[in-house]
Amino acid sequence: MKKLRKAVFPVAGLGTRFLPATKAVPKEMLTVVDRPVIQYVVDEAREAGIEHFIFVTGRNKAVIEDHFDLQFELYDTLEQRGKNEVLSRLKGMQPAPGQTSFTRQQEPLGLGHAVWCAREIVGDEPFALLLPDMIMQSEPGCLKQMVDLYEKTGNNIVAVEECDPLETHKYGIVVKGKDVHSGFELTGMVEKPKPEDAPTNLYINGRYILQPEIFSILENQERGAGNEIQLTDSMLRLLEKQPFYGYHFKGRTFDCGSPEGFVEANLAFALARPDMKKHVTDFMREIAAE
Ligand code: UTP
Repeated sequence: MKKLRKAVFPVAGLGTRFLPATKAVPKEMLTVVDRPVIQYVVDEAREAGIEHFIFVTGRNKAVIEDHFDLQFELYDTLEQRGKNEVLSRLKGMQPAPGQTSFTRQQEPLGLGHAVWCAREIVGDEPFALLLPDMIMQSEPGCLKQMVDLYEKTGNNIVAVEECDPLETHKYGIVVKGKDVHSGFELTGMVEKPKPEDAPTNLYINGRYILQPEIFSILENQERGAGNEIQLTDSMLRLLEKQPFYGYHFKGRTFDCGSPEGFVEANLAFALARPDMKKHVTDFMREIAAE
């Protein structure tokens, strides 16, 4: 089994649910407490052992590349001013030279197309796929939990969570087979089924481990729902040839692509910080009582 070393972050979406905030600023650069959303996802990947971070970007997303670059002037100024704590925090988040790659999707033709754009950089090895607008709160992170299963099963893994059974039409829903180690055999996937047609209420939460054979399938994938090249359609075809496993993620997920999920993430991550918890709790009590 090949070791999982690479992760793909598709960041070329238009972010229409978050306009006007995303008119000039990519949604991945909106901050949850004091870090951009994309930093949480990269940190999750690094914790899981990822060594190469591949970003599929689009127009107006150059600031993401700048964020992961080394900023000499800033580091010098912080050093001169004795701001050592923040400086070491920044350095700890900095990818090493050569650990990042950026490619452009050119046209937002769908998630499947964005993943396909990373094919040359990923090459012939398994890769993690992390949708950056979903951020997770758990110890260890979602991808690390999945890697623990991957080391036992190999093949393809999709993380899932339970949704409200009346809301299955908003998600990709999986069909569950028998339990295997800490996961289960995944025997099917249905994109946005009506509640009465849904096989389960387990939805795909935005974290995947995929084998490189997905690229040749994506290459020939016709447009599906929303006239976009859908990743789920290609995963279904890969499922005919290779095993897939589901992993029931233990933790909390926030959809930072929607304003509600973004506000919830800010509250949850602020409350998880010992230096902010009391202040935020007192403030919430105060405004809730008004
Ligand atoms: P979403 O559908 O949530 O992202 O795609 P979006 O299109 O940016 O958002 P809305 O619905 O208009 O608000 C899930 C992930 O896939 C990426 C997005 O950036 C997001 O991380 N994506 C989607 C691409 O990179 N390219 C695409 O063509 C579509």
